[in-house]
Amino acid sequence: MNLNKLINLSQKPKLFERSETVFWDDPHISKKMLEAHLNPDLEGASRKFATIDASVKWLDEDIFPNKDIKILDLGCGPGLYTSRLAKLGYSITGIDYSQRSINYAKEKAEEENLDIEYIYQNYLTIDYEEEFDVIMLIYCDFGALTNEERDLLLKKIYQALKAGGIFITDVFSDKNKGNSDLGRHWELTDDGFWNKKPHLALTETFLYSEDDTFLNQTLVMTEDKEISVYRLFNHCYTKATITDVLNEFDFKDHSYYSDVTGKDYSEESKTLAVVTKK
Ligand SMILES: C[S@@+](CC[C@H](N)C(=O)[O-])C[C@H]1O[C@@H](n2cnc3c(N)ncnc32)[C@H](O)[C@@H]1O
Repeated sequence: MNLNKLINLSQKPKLFERSETVFWDDPHISKKMLEAHLNPDLEGASRKFATIDASVKWLDEDIFPNKDIKILDLGCGPGLYTSRLAKLGYSITGIDYSQRSINYAKEKAEEENLDIEYIYQNYLTIDYEEEFDVIMLIYCDFGALTNEERDLLLKKIYQALKAGGIFITDVFSDKNKGNSDLGRHWELTDDGFWNKKPHLALTETFLYSEDDTFLNQTLVMTEDKEISVYRLFNHCYTKATITDVLNEFDFKDHSYYSDVTGKDYSEESKTLAVVTKK
């Protein structure tokens, strides 16, 4: 084992310094991720199915203006929201850059005879003009973006929405700053999440308090002495900080909730959901 290399890699990286590894589209990780998405009782890759059902009910009954709308789901994963919304009669497009999730979503739609458009694409490259009534980005993916990526995406979302269209997203709130207390943990396994070979995974949480961001960094070592680094950054927002960003891109009439089931806004909530308009 190259301990010096390991020591070097375990240092706190710069804010949003990404590693070279592929995460969502890695063949092994995406397989494990799909299993997690499809586990109804796991709060992992997706929320538990009971929560997704509650979200869809809230969106359908309280947020969407009528059934004749076009919806775009960014980071749709295997289509847990898109399929439920299509069954309610909505016209919907899902975009994701996990090929495995998109393949699964397409097969499932065919099996269930649902007319859903699925696109394998990085959502930072979308280029629509006033096409959608609703755009959603659900399960705190907004906070995984650097400020530059976030600004680019908000510009593209604004452009893709029709006048009066709605953007819905959720983020980790500043109540997650305590996540740094999670500190370090490790896993030694021959059938794990990170690699199909036996591996040791060392995970550490780093906090960037001034930038309201935390990082979960995992170093994965296999027997052939390979070390791979995975970094998942999370920018936490408050009502005030997300409002500033949305205002900058001309979104208006923001409404705030504790989560995407429409739970009343609370400063104590670990998530914050926002519904805003073009
Ligand atoms: C945490 S999962 C949430 C999936 C889904 N929204 C849900 O809640 O069930 C994040 C999803 O976003 C996708 N994703 C992340 N960044 C993306 C990007 N830049 N472009 C397209 N998809 C992306 C991942 O592949 C993954 O399926």
